[in-house]
Amino acid sequence: SPSDPDLVERARAAKERLGDKVFVLGHHYQRDEVIQFADVTGDSFKLARDAAARPDAEYIVFCGVHFMAESADILTTDDQKVVLPDLAAGCSMADMATAEQVAECWDVLTEAGIAEQVVPVSYMNSSADIKAFTGKHGGTICTSSNAKRALEWAFEQGEKILFLPDQHLGRNTAVRDMGFSLDDCVVYNPHKPGGGLTAEQLRDAKMILWRGHCSVHGRFSLESVEDVRARIPGVNVLVHPECKHEVVAAADHVGSTEHIIQTLEAAPAGSKWAIGTELNLVRRLANRFAAEDKEIVFLDKTVCFCSTMNRIDLPHLVWTLESLADGKLVNRIEVDRETEQFAKLALERMLALP
Ligand code: 13P
Ligand code: SF4
Repeated sequence: SPSDPDLVERARAAKERLGDKVFVLGHHYQRDEVIQFADVTGDSFKLARDAAARPDAEYIVFCGVHFMAESADILTTDDQKVVLPDLAAGCSMADMATAEQVAECWDVLTEAGIAEQVVPVSYMNSSADIKAFTGKHGGTICTSSNAKRALEWAFEQGEKILFLPDQHLGRNTAVRDMGFSLDDCVVYNPHKPGGGLTAEQLRDAKMILWRGHCSVHGRFSLESVEDVRARIPGVNVLVHPECKHEVVAAADHVGSTEHIIQTLEAAPAGSKWAIGTELNLVRRLANRFAAEDKEIVFLDKTVCFCSTMNRIDLPHLVWTLESLADGKLVNRIEVDRETEQFAKLALERMLALP
């Protein structure tokens, strides 16, 4: 939708009043009306790295979801305040692993006699508590752009991996990128006693995948891939690794949001692409690359926005920037010190991956 000109002007004016005091980060799934005010845009890895790029900025306004703002708070200085324009912008996948459930899982692994061999690898899309658990148990964080390197690192530290909370990213990386078989993976269901697995299954597994998923990417199916190939001869199918394994297996290319953008930038004129990721990003790319004669369509017939990413809209951004410009700190995201200490350990292991 076209931005309201009055709100655009107010956001511009408030940002100007704040000057260097504010640094605005925008994830690629954000709305056009919001992304136009971002000083930096990126996938979750790039934004985690860039959050610390402006140590002089008093306010980091994070246009994204809650776990991203928490990670930014962990990686910035104590004086910097991270602000999320709408506190209801969570991530349903991150909510699928709670600290209590993960502690219980660790007890199950301990009882099966394998906890010592297990290295936790947690997807960025998890709460600070889960990141702290990961740091405490010698593990690392990963994003969709470095999952393979994170798994390789973890397999140098131990024999098995507990991958949280996205089963699809874990499975896709292990099977598609590292040569494991589907039988090397088991799924731990936090809603069943013992995760729904026997001690023997746990002992045989290489990858213990948490039963979490992204409902936005879960909408893409093998049928959507077959349909688009029939509709558009010669189409290249490019999907995010949060898609189901069968979708990723049927696609031509797989990667993070930043990787998707770079792939399209490098694509030749006249090429055709079906993209399996969130719709704000796909629409923006379709508009941007139409001028270069690259045809870009959304992989599915239904509309898939991430509803929580979409909560950050121009009215929320204007309210946030005007409040900060008036000296009123709103919607601060602050991780407590102890959690921060261990979560930072896990995040720094990720940032140090080769
Ligand atoms: P990226 O790291 O690829 O931007 O993905 C983040 C995300 O939440 C995907 O759903
Ligand atoms: Fe979470 Fe999925 Fe939205 Fe990404 S797209 S923020 S994983 S719900």
